[in-house]
Amino acid sequence: MTPLEEHLIQLIRRAGPITLERFMAEALGHPRYGYYTTRDPLGRAGDFITAPEISQIFGELIGLWCADLWMRMGAPDPVNLVELGPGRGTLMADALRVIETAAPDFAGALRLHLVETSPVLRRLQAERLEATWHADVGDLPGGPMILIANEFFDALPVRQLVRTADGWCERLVGVGEPGGRLVLTLGPPAPEAAGLVGPDHLDAAIGTCIEVSPQREAVMTALARRLVADGGALLVIDYGPAAGGPGDSVQAVRGHRFTDILEAPGEVDLTAHVDFAALTRTAVTAGADVCGPVSQGRFLGALGIEARARQLLASADARQAADIRSGVARLTAPEAMGELFKVLAATAPGGPPPAGFGDTAA
Ligand SMILES: C[S@@+](CC[C@H](N)C(=O)[O-])C[C@H]1O[C@@H](n2cnc3c(N)ncnc32)[C@H](O)[C@@H]1O
Repeated sequence: MTPLEEHLIQLIRRAGPITLERFMAEALGHPRYGYYTTRDPLGRAGDFITAPEISQIFGELIGLWCADLWMRMGAPDPVNLVELGPGRGTLMADALRVIETAAPDFAGALRLHLVETSPVLRRLQAERLEATWHADVGDLPGGPMILIANEFFDALPVRQLVRTADGWCERLVGVGEPGGRLVLTLGPPAPEAAGLVGPDHLDAAIGTCIEVSPQREAVMTALARRLVADGGALLVIDYGPAAGGPGDSVQAVRGHRFTDILEAPGEVDLTAHVDFAALTRTAVTAGADVCGPVSQGRFLGALGIEARARQLLASADARQAADIRSGVARLTAPEAMGELFKVLAATAPGGPPPAGFGDTAA
């Protein structure tokens, strides 16, 4: 049993079952035993790999996207360049390298801000990046901003509401007896749960599970309001369906394999699909414009991933060439990350259209 499981069992025995949302938040962010608090989970030796760790081209294209947007915004100086959940800092290091060469004026104008809760990852980021760190988006300074969030929203917890014969009930984590281990259970029917489900699903079949994420919505609302007030854009890249539907998408990954979500809390990664329709609604309600979502494959194609790969291949040896080709395929192929991952931009209303979306403004 992990120390966090022992802690949660004591807590539940004292105060009753906790919501799945609370369980996810504790498992990922508990100040002593949380998954992100205690480790660097990225890379081949870790639990999962992300796009910037697969190919340098990913961060480079995002850097060029930022520079292009900054110019279209009228080249504000200073401007805050912000990354949410920067992991090892790889995306931003790759982005800054191309920005310094391709857009030195932008490099001179930008002030780098990183929103990160993990002390372990903050240390790794500090080895590569000069920045100001924040624990919460509410602490970001004023002024125009360009924000990047790659696989950040999927790490924010979700609530699950389940339709039963007696009404909508919330998914909880309790302690099973005999055995005394964590188990999934349901709370009593609750009018508050029904209120979260939304009119489209109120009459769903018995057993239907709806996920909602008040935390993601709070982050999107806060950032969209800032974009409306100060200008700029937020680029969200994450995995999930373009149009959210019912279903339980919470998953646990350890050592690049799926595992049970209650197994070893604090030692496995927990995520849930990002509902891009919900993010869009939230941003628009806060007054922002939205572009996308489009698939990651289409977005990176529009930004010129093939041309950049050809440039790198021109001076690559055989092994490097194989890595470049497999990296591009993994990022863009429909059966890899190309379709499951989506890209969405929230922008100040009437602001310049960001690159990569074609004609997809909402
Ligand atoms: C899946 S990793 C993605 C890392 C990086 N963006 C990448 O693509 O490699 C999630 C990141 O978000 C951070 N994170 C998770 N929850 C957070 C929260 N509530 N506030 C700020 N950062 C958080 C993690 O520490 C980590 O840096």
